[in-house]
Amino acid sequence: MMTKILKINPLSPEPSKIKEAAEVIKRGGTVAFPTETVYGLGADALNPEAILKVFKAKGRPSDNPLIVHIATFSGLELIAKRPAKSALVLIKEFWPGPLTIILKKKKIVPDIVTGGLDTVAVRMPDNKIALSLIKKAGVPLVAPSANLSGKPSPTRAKDVAADLSGKIDVIIDGGKTRIGIESTVIDMTTSPPTLLRPGGLPVEEIEKVVGHVQRQSMSHETTPVRSPGLKYRHYAPKARMVIVEGDSDAVQSEIKKLAEKGLKDGKKVGILAFHKEFRVEGCITKYAGSRPGTVAGRLFNILRAFDKDGVDLIISEPYGGNGLKLGIADRLRRAAGQG
Ligand code: TXA
Ligand code: MG
Repeated sequence: MMTKILKINPLSPEPSKIKEAAEVIKRGGTVAFPTETVYGLGADALNPEAILKVFKAKGRPSDNPLIVHIATFSGLELIAKRPAKSALVLIKEFWPGPLTIILKKKKIVPDIVTGGLDTVAVRMPDNKIALSLIKKAGVPLVAPSANLSGKPSPTRAKDVAADLSGKIDVIIDGGKTRIGIESTVIDMTTSPPTLLRPGGLPVEEIEKVVGHVQRQSMSHETTPVRSPGLKYRHYAPKARMVIVEGDSDAVQSEIKKLAEKGLKDGKKVGILAFHKEFRVEGCITKYAGSRPGTVAGRLFNILRAFDKDGVDLIISEPYGGNGLKLGIADRLRRAAGQG
């Protein structure tokens, strides 16, 4: 299959190009498009055959459900049962934006979207290209991140092309995504609500509006998996990755020790740094920034760049905290296989 690249102006999407991409969706094809978080791989959310193409192109396990993207509130009404009051308040406050809400689904949503669950994940992205594409297609779109399953999510059209060229119909190039990590996923069918995936919208912002939000236990040994996607290794570069925890002096000397051992064993070693001055002789050091907004924007690019450099071992400084840092720490842990 030939994948067509359509360059579209993110500030003022050309109607003729949006129309061209929307026609592909209507015919049951697949179109990668930018959102404010990461690029998504879109298909008609009401067409099971089109959705099957998304699973196939990504190599995604069929029990991992997809987020349905809408552009209007009638889109919400079409696919989800009437949300509880607290969910409506969230929607009003944060849509369009990096927040995915789990609601009870309506029958019209095919089982292949939800992996057979009676709930559906819904979000209204804050991106002009995404919104105009959904409107023009006239249907809600499923859109998982447009990467091969398990790889770091794409924040640029060329990342999508590297993973999916030849496997999908169209890639819209709408520039770099604004946030860089995926949306926050919150289950509003539980009381209190449950955070299933920290992401672009800090959970503290959500709590200001709906009160306490319970964190899903990260141990899947003891709790049933509520968000099926969480049980797979994710965002993972080819290299083995380790995060060195501890206070900063101890971390620096431990990283040096591990790096020197890796080099002695003949490995190509990468260092993922959040402190500018941090360097280890003989290693490829990449600086992700220190402010969370910067780190979120760079993290997946850096993981992909280490792959390109042929790095065998990535040693990372620790990173974490509240707000956006929580989502970043989650992606970092999963990349290191500590999901
Ligand atoms: O920012 C984002 O959310 C991006 C952009 C493209 O919108 N999309 C994205 O999709 O990250 P994906 O498929 O990579 O991640 C969807 C997550 C998975 O962890 C999945 O298990 C969860 O949402 N999910 C989807 N439907 C669900 C449901 N009904 N109940 C619980 N979790 C669900
Ligand atoms: Mg994904």
